[in-house]
Amino acid sequence: MNIKENVPISELTTMRLGGKARYVIEIQDLKDIPTAYNFAAEKKLPTWIMGGGANTIGQDAGFAGVILLNKLKGIEVVSETSDEVVVRAMGGEIWDDLVDFTCERGYSGIEALSKIPGTVGAAPVQNIGAYGQDIATVIESVEAWDRESHELIILSNTEMQMSYRSTIFNTGKDTGRYFIVAVNLILANDGHMQPPFYNALQKYIDTHKITDFSPMSIRKIVSEIRAEKLPDPAVEASAGSFFKNIFVTDDEAAAVTAAGIKVWEKENGKKMINSGYLIEGAGLKGKELHGMKVSDKAALVLINKSAKSYADLDAARTEIRNAVQEKYGFMLEQEPVEIPTGVK
Ligand code: EPU
Repeated sequence: MNIKENVPISELTTMRLGGKARYVIEIQDLKDIPTAYNFAAEKKLPTWIMGGGANTIGQDAGFAGVILLNKLKGIEVVSETSDEVVVRAMGGEIWDDLVDFTCERGYSGIEALSKIPGTVGAAPVQNIGAYGQDIATVIESVEAWDRESHELIILSNTEMQMSYRSTIFNTGKDTGRYFIVAVNLILANDGHMQPPFYNALQKYIDTHKITDFSPMSIRKIVSEIRAEKLPDPAVEASAGSFFKNIFVTDDEAAAVTAAGIKVWEKENGKKMINSGYLIEGAGLKGKELHGMKVSDKAALVLINKSAKSYADLDAARTEIRNAVQEKYGFMLEQEPVEIPTGVK
């Protein structure tokens, strides 16, 4: 087991902010999990689980605790019939490597989730979704270490209570209880996505007159759309979408429609608006605030250009929230999670 001390959280997260974590332990083997939790318990320190740090923000005071980095590796096909396949991926795998693995074999279900930064273990935590697919619809189960019962358990799809960016892993009393060991996905063998596609995807398909909807073809399209619109965290510091989109009531929908904001009807009949349009409407698209830039391609994304601290991010975030609240009356909710400082 690899234990490091006083590691800057800025080096572990794609937003590249945050002070030092007292300890960082790399979990490379199943047996490292209880050992790491025991280590933290002996030192009476809190713990925090992290994958690629692509959706995590560190604060300036750092973390007076133990960060467990999920480095568990492995991807395998567990079972396969002519129309269905179960793929098991370990939590420390890079999410996009898993998407590539499945597309290579012609399995459909996560191809539109191509190029989402981060690890497999982080994917179910926030219920990742993009371009008309989300992990909630294909996830069969999650294998996890339960900190309360001190054993490996299996959580079924329904037990994870997945809704928009919310699951039992990040919401409610069981937040932080489970260390995700592996994810089991049920994908379509030989199937593919059907038109009509999600707006941006459909536009690309129409413009380029694409007729191949195979998983690998969709993967290529989504990769191009994302490369055009979203910053590559390896090049520019960012945590992807910084704010959540907003579900609105019928009355609110009527009001924002009158204000020129597009309202989307989601599968469950709920209405959603894009927070990026609100930020743009508030005149902030492309603006740099306290070293944080509101992306000029996707206003929902904040890019850390020259922010030195979490305090800078906090100041930028407050200005954006206030501007949107003043103009439209909605309070934006942050999408990435924040490591508590752990100071008691
Ligand atoms: N929309 C539809 N149907 C469509 C097109 C758009 O319902 O055919 C809705 C979306 O639900 C959203 C709005 O329209 O309310 C705008 O969607 P857009 O594609 O412009 O993307 P976004 O809101 O900027 C979201 C995700 C991204 C994901 C894209 C593409 C969040 C917070 N962000 O961003 O995820 O890549 O959609 O699907 O949900 C991330 O979470 O870091 C991330 C990049």
